[in-house]
Amino acid sequence: MNDSTHSIIEDFQIAYTHRVYFTENVFARDNALLASTIQACTSAERPRVFTVADADFMAANPGVKSQMRGYFDHHHQEMQFMGCLELPGGEQLKNKPEHLEQLYRIIEQKQLCRHSFIIALGGGALLDLVGFAASTAHRGIRHIRLPTTSLSQGDGGCGVKNGINYLGKKNFIGTFTPPDAVINDIEFLKSLPEPRLIDGFIEAIKVALIKDSDFFEYIEAQAAALLLRDFTTIRKVLHASARHHVLHISRNGDPFELTSSRPLDFGHWSAHKLEVLSGYALSHGEAVAIGIALDCIYSHKKGYLAEAQLERILQLIRKFGFHLYDERLSQLTAEGQYIILLGLEEFREHMGGQLTIPLLRDIGHQFEVNDMDANLLVASIETLASWQATLHT
Ligand SMILES: NC(=O)c1ccc[n+]([C@@H]2O[C@H](COP(=O)([O-])OP(=O)(O)OC[C@H]3O[C@@H](n4cnc5c(N)ncnc54)[C@H](O)[C@@H]3O)[C@@H](O)[C@H]2O)c1
Ligand SMILES: [Zn+2]
Repeated sequence: MNDSTHSIIEDFQIAYTHRVYFTENVFARDNALLASTIQACTSAERPRVFTVADADFMAANPGVKSQMRGYFDHHHQEMQFMGCLELPGGEQLKNKPEHLEQLYRIIEQKQLCRHSFIIALGGGALLDLVGFAASTAHRGIRHIRLPTTSLSQGDGGCGVKNGINYLGKKNFIGTFTPPDAVINDIEFLKSLPEPRLIDGFIEAIKVALIKDSDFFEYIEAQAAALLLRDFTTIRKVLHASARHHVLHISRNGDPFELTSSRPLDFGHWSAHKLEVLSGYALSHGEAVAIGIALDCIYSHKKGYLAEAQLERILQLIRKFGFHLYDERLSQLTAEGQYIILLGLEEFREHMGGQLTIPLLRDIGHQFEVNDMDANLLVASIETLASWQATLHT
């Protein structure tokens, strides 16, 4: 440092409270949770509240619109309801920047300020888009998530990330901004078609595999009840999954992912690439199921994971009806390279730093590697492909 250099270096901390609630009938007049949560999050008098809702969810739950209006009418002395915008749900929402622009325009027109609230009511894709708009307009509007899918109630909705897809890359633009609160209404899940309901179970299996063998055993034991849509059991599983995700964020010392370690992304490096390769025809849950299967087989071929454990895992994933293979896993570039393997470098680039991939040593025990053997990955893909072929002969 030369004589003309002077520094001012100060540390400061910002405390966050991560509130994740489970309830039923959030818009019932006698359910005070949402109103009291809004009041707990601001000292502003009669804050403005605007809702953005998933159109598919609203179509499947025609009563919610009037219930929501009734709720805000009932609480009009505590908050000003500024209306509700419906947007189409699903991944395509994150692919179109015009939806983001539409949200910014509404925020401006409705004069929503940093003490106003945007409530996002929908699946993970809508939550990601609305969360990003809320965290960037005016450098941050208050934001409450009401997830309506099992995947977003037990996983994504309880996190601190948001974002949209850009330049053909998933979640290329986004921020780490904890929502002011997350309210999981189990009633919302009742309209989910089977393939979307099971998506939440795969993220529960993922977190069980990396952190909690007892939870894995519980999911195994309750698989039939989960498939029969026993919502008491579904709530227990999603609650445990959400709890693991929240505790990981709050207690593991890296809530905004500044290091390269990413255990919660077990099975996700290939899943993200598969989703893009399929043009999002594969749901996040379907892609994650295949990604987990691939990394489990790789863990086994590398000698880390015993065969009996591998079989248990794959059996459970299959029991829920997930495929373990998709032909896009075997798609080649013009030069004959497996396109899916490009997902490794894209994953590294997105996460930053050194390539860090979680693998399994046992059910409930993950560890990380900084290198993946391409030949062994190809062999793992071939194993999945040959099993798939056997199933269909
Ligand atoms: N931010 C994070 O940390 C994080 C974590 C995991 C996943 N995600 C993201 O979440 C997205 C996937 O979310 P998802 O699995 O919730 O699916 P989704 O948001 O794509 O929704 C799936 C479909 O279900 C519809 N839908 C939603 N709720 C419904 C209901 N109750 N009844 C009937 N239909 C309903 C939607 O309109 C959509 O058509 C992906 O973009 C993924 O990247 C984000
Ligand atoms: Zn995921």
